[in-house]
Amino acid sequence: MKMIVKARGIKKSYRMSRKNIVHALRGVDINVAAGDFSAIIGPSGCGKSTLMHILGLLDRPDAGTLEIDGENMSRLSDKKAYKIRARKIGFIFQGFNLIPTLTALENVVLAGKYGGLGKNERLERARELLDMLGLENRVDHKPNELSGGQQQRVAIARALINNPSIILADEPTGELDTKTSMEIMEILKRLNKEEGKTFLIVTHNMDVANACKKRIKLVDGKNA
Ligand SMILES: Nc1ncnc2c1ncn2[C@@H]1O[C@H](COP(=O)(O)OP(=O)(O)OP(=O)(O)O)[C@@H](O)[C@H]1O
Ligand SMILES: [Mg+2]
Repeated sequence: MKMIVKARGIKKSYRMSRKNIVHALRGVDINVAAGDFSAIIGPSGCGKSTLMHILGLLDRPDAGTLEIDGENMSRLSDKKAYKIRARKIGFIFQGFNLIPTLTALENVVLAGKYGGLGKNERLERARELLDMLGLENRVDHKPNELSGGQQQRVAIARALINNPSIILADEPTGELDTKTSMEIMEILKRLNKEEGKTFLIVTHNMDVANACKKRIKLVDGKNA
């Protein structure tokens, strides 16, 4: 079985002042194999988002080791980390995080540019993905001209354009109503089942957690 993420003993603290240190992660282990569809669950403040940022190379741990696709991420330069992040990791956020001044199509194309796709290829792939997600009539809409569910579908297209090894989703349904949440989960499940995409999904929602194949529990910055 191919491992996509292997994290061992991940620690991360935030020093707020000389005496006040927040220990967000106290030694977390995570395995994600190719084709996994896993949830990360746990109470507010237990370190889920901090962990996602570290696994997605948006932040660095204070201690521990991280391998992505079998490659050690510990001593990467910022430039190399940026490259690996753009090519291997797709992100889906609770607040969609689309660029407000760009259209749906432009948001997706831009991610393809960061991932190193050529001009024609990124345009073609972006259109294909938006079509697949049922947004063919919304490509020229800006984020504020789209519903929450539509914005999240654009974000899914953006996460997929570089054919990443893993898609990290932090509360992807957190701002959506129940029906739209389940539609988004159906899309993610289909991508997993039919295209073998690998997902790691942070959620507070038990329906979302139960829709995942595995659940990883964190409590107080540790595996529980
Ligand atoms: N940039 C930061 N600076 C200081 N403390 C932080 C920072 N980010 C997170 N923390 C603290 O680290 C701990 C873990 O935060 P994190 O955001 O990872 O929790 P979470 O599990 O994602 O919570 P939630 O379910 O509410 O999103 C919290 O106590 C939080 O206050
Ligand atoms: Mg969080």
